[in-house]
Amino acid sequence: MSAPVIFSGIQPTGRKHLGNYIGAIRQYVEGQERGEPAIFCIVDLHAISVAYDPAELRERLYDTTAILLAAGLDPANQCVLFRQSDVREHTELTWLLSAVTSHGDLNRMHQFKDKSMRQRELVSAALFFYPVLMASDVLAYRATEVPVGDDQRQHVELTREIARRFNERFGETLVEPELQVPEVGARIMDLQEPERKMSTTGATEAGTVYVLDEPAAIRKKFGSAVTDSGREILRGEEKPGITNLIDILAVARGVGPADIEREFAGAGYGDFKKAVAEGVVELLAPVRERYADLRPDEAALEATLAAGAEKARAIASPILEKVRDRMGIGVPAR
Ligand code: TRP
Repeated sequence: MSAPVIFSGIQPTGRKHLGNYIGAIRQYVEGQERGEPAIFCIVDLHAISVAYDPAELRERLYDTTAILLAAGLDPANQCVLFRQSDVREHTELTWLLSAVTSHGDLNRMHQFKDKSMRQRELVSAALFFYPVLMASDVLAYRATEVPVGDDQRQHVELTREIARRFNERFGETLVEPELQVPEVGARIMDLQEPERKMSTTGATEAGTVYVLDEPAAIRKKFGSAVTDSGREILRGEEKPGITNLIDILAVARGVGPADIEREFAGAGYGDFKKAVAEGVVELLAPVRERYADLRPDEAALEATLAAGAEKARAIASPILEKVRDRMGIGVPAR
């Protein structure tokens, strides 16, 4: 089998949490080894679909770039890392693909429904079009594999549907990508309300561990994590709090959840929570330290993004040419 073309996009927010780290960022770093190429895009154009501040967006974009580099992305040798808006092919393809996107499908997107309910002022047309832009991100590179959190499942399904419809209508051109969610840790839950996903919007502050949290803050959050009745350290539907902590420690240590259950059989909740905190501190501390070194040099971050955009464009541009030609748009190709 040939090597996968891996593509993923990440929102430009500085407050990346443990759920983002485990569900997405860690998979990116792993994907660099396999991807041929592995392409990662910071999606500033998606960020403008909800209320935002322009100056703030720039800051958060640098934050995200520095976090990704600190986590181990290596754009000099192993991946393509760029800012979405630098590669105009994405916006052009969005319009072209909107011609084969069903309005009804867009209307059924859970994320659109959730986000539009949360908007206090404008529910923008951009929010409605968000999934078409996301499909364009992926399809512009003929990506075969999309590592994302579980919440993006429906968007990746729609991406496949758009590719399918394009190919049926205009001939085999685009590639239907496979969704890739991590086996363990696809759903990291809020430490205070383990029925809810850890998230930047709508979760509890005390139950959300940020990648850039100081060790003391991490220890405090795990110390007050909600556990369940009973005293066994075992996964189970009636034990969402403990299950979440088991998954987190398993990922932090790079072992399976059953290994964690075995190791902590007979231990108390208090000791277990301490061990999870230490595991997460060890996982995140090096990222935080490297981030502190990288973030101040915005010129260097810009240079990295510019080099990435050039590589990305070199891949997307010929694919766009093909799409335009198939659709009968522009000067005919010979
Ligand atoms: N919608 C994704 C999220 O919120 C981000 C994203 C944008 C993305 N474009 C993408 C993810 C392309 C995967 C592929 O997490």
